[in-house]
Amino acid sequence: MRVGSAWLGGADAVGGNGRRPSGQGCRVVAIGTALPGLRISNSDIEQFLDTSDEWILSRTGIRERRVAEPDLTLLELAARAARAALSAAAVDPSEVDTIICSSSSPDSTFPSLACRLQADLGSPLGAAFDLQAACSGALYGVALAQSMIQSGLSRTVLVVGAEIFTRVVDWSDRSTAVLFGDGAGAFLVRDQDHDGAEILEIELGADGQGAWALDTVNFTSPDSAPPPPPLPEFASRARALDRVIQMNGREVFRFSTKILEQIVVRLSAAAGIEPNEISLIVPHQANSRILATAAGRLGLPFERFVCNVDRLGNTSSASIPLALAEAARDGRCHDGELVGLVAFGAGLTWGGVLLRWHPTAVGIDDPSAPTLDRGAEEPEQSPSPDHQEVPG
Ligand code: ACO
Repeated sequence: MRVGSAWLGGADAVGGNGRRPSGQGCRVVAIGTALPGLRISNSDIEQFLDTSDEWILSRTGIRERRVAEPDLTLLELAARAARAALSAAAVDPSEVDTIICSSSSPDSTFPSLACRLQADLGSPLGAAFDLQAACSGALYGVALAQSMIQSGLSRTVLVVGAEIFTRVVDWSDRSTAVLFGDGAGAFLVRDQDHDGAEILEIELGADGQGAWALDTVNFTSPDSAPPPPPLPEFASRARALDRVIQMNGREVFRFSTKILEQIVVRLSAAAGIEPNEISLIVPHQANSRILATAAGRLGLPFERFVCNVDRLGNTSSASIPLALAEAARDGRCHDGELVGLVAFGAGLTWGGVLLRWHPTAVGIDDPSAPTLDRGAEEPEQSPSPDHQEVPG
């Protein structure tokens, strides 16, 4: 095990940039999400991997995940989420003058997903670029959107987190393959004069000393490339990358629980409130035990944390907009209340956004999800993670 990282070595202080934008916050005027139609249950994965529904559910809280159909591109998924947000808010794509995308599973290294999306939407020729902050990407994007609007560089920013992780995981590695799923989510950000959830506080940070804990590694040779998954439904038309994920799960678990707790504390301090004044916390959906452990450390009930990892798995940079849209749709976000978004991921990176919720347009593009005829079940309530074991 490597030592020396502030995070992984166990120090308590949060890093971060320690600066926050001046002036009034911007608004998240719309959230849009898109999911592929295929649902793959833990039982489906049992067929080709030495794992079990019991192991995956008890260690991660995941029951099933969505998997992109073989002919679905990341651009198409991202565009569906973007259009869901725009149409929910009745904003024409011609009004979007900046597009920021985050993905760790892009169709290509360049041109960026954002440039392709700009062309697909027919938006004006403003800035369009991708950022890389792994699972923290959507919140890094919101921070950039607010900065660009406040500086006068932009008026309407579309931030999209989109992932087809099932094409970049090593399907012969049971320790990572079972964790991830596919999906996309978008935030439409405008200035204070519009309706929507108000951005009150933002935290961003990274600790590159922890990069080793969650990494991608090249195949040593083409012959050492992992085999494609044997299920025909997984047979993507091309493997998107020539590298696979390598993760020290226990170290990532430690980092994630600690940073989740500390971002909530830090956002609260910045806003001059106590953490228990935040009505709803929408964390990155990596593992329900991470959320339960952080809730326990904060002394907050687990019910205050949005958790849909049981149905979607870890969708990386798409996970926070997906979870927030679902919470809003289900009536869990109330006018005037505080909602905390908290992200953490490879880098190691982290981010937090504190919102004052106001009615916000939500568009959800989720085709009727056919189950594979191999044991996929209707979604059920997550088991209470309070009773699940937390690794060392
Ligand atoms: N099925 C069955 N057994 C498995 C599986 C599997 N899918 N994966 C690992 N095991 C086995 C291991 O081989 C090991 O067996 P052994 O004891 O015989 O050696 C045993 O289970 C325990 O393995 P651990 O890795 O110690 O299991 P742990 O309890 O730590 O759980 C997990 C692993 C779920 C990955 C956990 O560490 C975790 O959730 N970490 C955080 C991971 C994460 O969330 N990553 C992404 C966050 S950041 C981002 O989103 C980019």
